[in-house]
Amino acid sequence: MKVRSSVFASFILILEGIGVALFLRGFFPVPLKSSVSSKNKLSDLPVEPLTGSSHNSSRLPQPLFKRVVIMLVDALREDFVFGPNGRMYMPYTRHLVERGSSHSFVAKARPPTVTMPRIKALTTGTIPGFIDVVMNLNSPALLEDNLIWQAKTAGKRMVFYGDDTWVRLFPKHFMEHDGTTSFFVSDYTEVDNNVTRHLDSTLKRDDWDILILHYLGLDHIGHISGPHSSLIQPKLMEMDDILKKIHSSLISKEAEGSLPYLLVLCGDHGMSETGSHGGSSEPEINTPLVLLSPAFKRKGKPSNFA
Ligand SMILES: *[C@@H]1O[C@H](CO)[C@@H](O)[C@H](O)[C@H]1NC(C)=O
Ligand SMILES: *[C@@H]1O[C@H](CO)[C@@H](O)[C@H](O)[C@H]1NC(C)=O
Ligand SMILES: [Zn+2]
Repeated sequence: MKVRSSVFASFILILEGIGVALFLRGFFPVPLKSSVSSKNKLSDLPVEPLTGSSHNSSRLPQPLFKRVVIMLVDALREDFVFGPNGRMYMPYTRHLVERGSSHSFVAKARPPTVTMPRIKALTTGTIPGFIDVVMNLNSPALLEDNLIWQAKTAGKRMVFYGDDTWVRLFPKHFMEHDGTTSFFVSDYTEVDNNVTRHLDSTLKRDDWDILILHYLGLDHIGHISGPHSSLIQPKLMEMDDILKKIHSSLISKEAEGSLPYLLVLCGDHGMSETGSHGGSSEPEINTPLVLLSPAFKRKGKPSNFA
């Protein structure tokens, strides 16, 4: 009887061990692809269903856009653009969303809604794990297959201004960069001015293909005083003006016969009613995704995007 109960106890212990291991394996999954050799090559390109007659996977599809500008506003909540706040404080953007040549979506961020895992998700297309929160502070270079690496390999010239997390994730990818630090959360002015100060000269230049901007000020305001703070409104107006500046400059540089530009406005995550983020509540996961390009037809209301 004594032997049997100890056998039973060890059985239970082993079962518990397996259970804990299984839980940890799921909670901190090992990245499926983490070696440099796992990057996709041209030969892995799937057949494009829309390219017409030539289903030749060893040939690149024709580029659709000449230049791409990605304006990422940290903690840009969906209602800051599509809600009543957007109508009042981001009038230019809102006008383009409603009447311009644009496509707009509500993009759902996967928790953990923290900046580094979100940048990883946006550039790799993979779902971030909770392990990424632990590594959020010392983000090492991203080794998984990602858009930035692919763009650099394809010879695209990229310029980056903003959150220096990008510079740590992609240390040698940008021909020019100026990283701002998110360390001083109380600063929501200089951190954005350090990005905007480069715009006038960079927008005039022709030596880049992709420009990425990551504005941190709005996120810092959220952490200081929440989404209903009086600081939010001037910040949204500032972001609206910057989008207008970029858009006008892209329009003025459009040349007859060349490919159109693409301007992307997006957020990495939203902010909760207390101004924090990281969890999975609606205001934290819903972010706007606005694509602007003369290549698009003028259209109606924003639709959902899972
Ligand atoms: C695909 O294109 C490559 C180079 O453009 C050519 O060598 C190859 O024969 C083509 N394959 C098919 C199936 O058309
Ligand atoms: C902004 O730029 C200045 C000068 O390059 C630098 O000293 C400062 O630390 C930067 N601020 C932030 C928040 O990155
Ligand atoms: Zn963020």
